[in-house]
Amino acid sequence: MSERGSFSSRIGFILAAAGSAVGLGNIWRFPYLAGTNGGAGFLFIYLLCILLLCIPVMIGEIAIGRNAGLDAYGSYKKLGGGKWGYLGYYGIFAGIVILSYYNVVAGWAFGYFLEISFGDLLNHNDFGQFFGEYVNNIGPIFLFSLGFMVMTAVIVSQGIAKGIEAANKIMMPGLYFILIALIIYSLTLPNAMAGVDFYLVPKLDQINSRTIFYALCQAFFSLSLGMGCLITYGSYVTKDQNIVKSAAIISGADTSVAFLAGLLVFPLVFSLGAEPGQGPKLIFVILTQAFATMGPIMGRLVGGAFFLLICFAALTSTISLIEVPSAFFVDTKKMPRKTVVWSLAGLIFIIGLPSMFSQGIIPALNHLPGVHNSPDFLSFVADLCDIILISGGCIMCFFIRNVWKIDSLNKELAIGNPGYLGSMVQSYVNFSISWACPVILSILSTLVIIDKFFGLDWLF
Ligand code: TRP
Repeated sequence: MSERGSFSSRIGFILAAAGSAVGLGNIWRFPYLAGTNGGAGFLFIYLLCILLLCIPVMIGEIAIGRNAGLDAYGSYKKLGGGKWGYLGYYGIFAGIVILSYYNVVAGWAFGYFLEISFGDLLNHNDFGQFFGEYVNNIGPIFLFSLGFMVMTAVIVSQGIAKGIEAANKIMMPGLYFILIALIIYSLTLPNAMAGVDFYLVPKLDQINSRTIFYALCQAFFSLSLGMGCLITYGSYVTKDQNIVKSAAIISGADTSVAFLAGLLVFPLVFSLGAEPGQGPKLIFVILTQAFATMGPIMGRLVGGAFFLLICFAALTSTISLIEVPSAFFVDTKKMPRKTVVWSLAGLIFIIGLPSMFSQGIIPALNHLPGVHNSPDFLSFVADLCDIILISGGCIMCFFIRNVWKIDSLNKELAIGNPGYLGSMVQSYVNFSISWACPVILSILSTLVIIDKFFGLDWLF
């Protein structure tokens, strides 16, 4: 165990797992999805998904990882026998594919941080147009994304305690600090309360099947579930830790950052009289516009701080994404960590190039022919990953229920948590993993597949 490394403390694990969870998903994706899917209604369904389905799935993943003490592939194989290793491969594949497009968006944010802090980005008039040109300006975008991948590899190649844990201990508290300071500012702007109303007062007519799909996919993505990321992190956790409590803290931290990001973004959107439903460019366009109105010095400071925050959040997530395939090659294939991490970083960067070029430069990648609604390649890959995550979570529940068995789960969860057996929490976790998740996730993942690739308009 000591050779493969472990977290040096309880708080180290929690920070790292929360760092994995908190990322572009919370600050970039959550606000724009809430903006296009009815604001408060979306938030409500999102919270329901977290409570009912996601926290138990997270508990299950960490328990599998700690019990087996191996990477995702090794853990499934050890606990379930040879064929279950394929579920581990599924997760390793997902980690590689998610990181390939995630790193591109992280590169945009990194570029915005640099251009706002040190360039003249805030002097433009039309930020929508600027964003469109920016993501197609291949030279800088290529370098920024490459830079981001290199930072990820530098940290992960240092190992668990010195690399992943140390980075998270600095970045996570910094992130909360910047976020809260910005919210206080945004709430003082004129018309900010219209944004708060949009975000916090549910209008039930805005909830439909699509709100539910998007909220569920977003909840899985945001908590880093469904692909063995927390199995891998769980394998570095010591036996004296209380898994249920840790999962509650990690989910709480993640949900609070998403919630706070919404509370920052919507007051700004409404104070500018802008549209909340702008999709992926929402924070890049609207927030930058808000920063530009703050004057040259304040705008640079506040805008720079905000995009720095996004980079922190993204970096703690990219390191967790690359750790899943890395752990596989280190544990199962017994390869040296540094070689593995740098090779994977190079490979994933190359796999991400079509996503990078999908924003207009290569028209065929901008509107994928033959795919429902012809999305761009980056969105298509993101949709594909969502499906992998919820189906992966669903299969994991079947694995616990039918192969590893609920009893083994309970035994693992009781370690480090003396009052667990016979408690209400146990009934909730068991019910969710053996019934609620398998049933709801299998129905919804089928519907999401149909919806994303063929459209469900004929059904609802
Ligand atoms: N949760 C991260 C975010 O919200 C992204 C992420 C990191 C992730 N690791 C993951 C998503 C594993 C799914 C699985 O930005």
